[in-house]
Amino acid sequence: MSISVTNMTQSLAYTPQVVTATQAIYERVQHVIPEVEWPVHAPYVAMINELKAERNAILLAHNYQTPEIYYGVADYTGDSLALAKKASETDADIIVFCGVHFMAETAKILNPEKQVLIPDLRAGCSLAASITGEDVRLLKERYPGVPVVTYVNTSAEVKAESDVCCTSSNVINIVNALGTDRVIILPDNYLGKYVAQKTDVEVILWEGTCEVHERFTAAELREFRNATPGIQIIAHPECPPEVLNEADFVGSTSGMIRHLDQTRPERVVMITECSMSDNTAVQFPDIEFIRPCNLCPHMKRITLPKILNSLQNLKYEVEVDEAIRVRAFGAVKRMFEF
Ligand code: 13P
Ligand code: SF4
Repeated sequence: MSISVTNMTQSLAYTPQVVTATQAIYERVQHVIPEVEWPVHAPYVAMINELKAERNAILLAHNYQTPEIYYGVADYTGDSLALAKKASETDADIIVFCGVHFMAETAKILNPEKQVLIPDLRAGCSLAASITGEDVRLLKERYPGVPVVTYVNTSAEVKAESDVCCTSSNVINIVNALGTDRVIILPDNYLGKYVAQKTDVEVILWEGTCEVHERFTAAELREFRNATPGIQIIAHPECPPEVLNEADFVGSTSGMIRHLDQTRPERVVMITECSMSDNTAVQFPDIEFIRPCNLCPHMKRITLPKILNSLQNLKYEVEVDEAIRVRAFGAVKRMFEF
């Protein structure tokens, strides 16, 4: 399907039809998206939802996407593990990945026959950028026989050199299940240190960090606790160890949501990316969210206009060399087996 510029301009107006088509969505997100902003988002939301159906496309969105994407156009939302699983189960012809490049690449690794699109190819990740396949080969030479457990926040080339992939929600189970005295955990230094603290296994670390989570400090968390007595502090394991030690709960992005669902605290602060609090606040209107705002610049490259462009022009296709894909698939498949 191709849409002329004139038609596009017309269809991106905030018409009565668009109001009707998006009304239920807006009612849901009205506490986190100001009323003045909705007429800008709504025409994109309506058009993207129409195009998805026409193209038999599915839209997967990470928990860090903005609410107009998360609640407006996503078919499935979740953490890296949940989205990888969803990508492996879908019957859709096209997967549009609203997240960062390594996530879309993981979807392609699992679905070589499908078209996997990312609305902006520049949506990277500081962890994925911190290590290459050559680095992993050198580490394996230095520590022969020690299993390499690689965070999904890596390129296909790095996954291809690894024994098993992990996410923050399954890393501890995987390391325990391996049954070895030592493991190499790549590339997140803080996630590796967290695993070392939670298991009896010696962890060989890499120096990668998440540029969003490394900015949080323990002093900042203590300030939250002093300013709001009784507040629950929940943090992502990509934060530095001294930050995690101040938290009441540590978990993946979906682990944090589950924790809130089960414990329903009165007040909470989520020590993670900014949009996560907006999305979760919609789900739990009775919980008060204190919102420090550390944005992931890579996640924020994905916007509604770029998603529309992605669906209209089938951009930007994520490709993985077949020989690398097959080896990377082995590491991702082993993660699912665990
Ligand atoms: P999750 O697997 O917890 O969603 O984390 C992915 C990520 O990039 C967090 O920064
Ligand atoms: Fe990567 Fe950090 Fe952004 Fe997650 S939040 S995608 S780990 S840079």
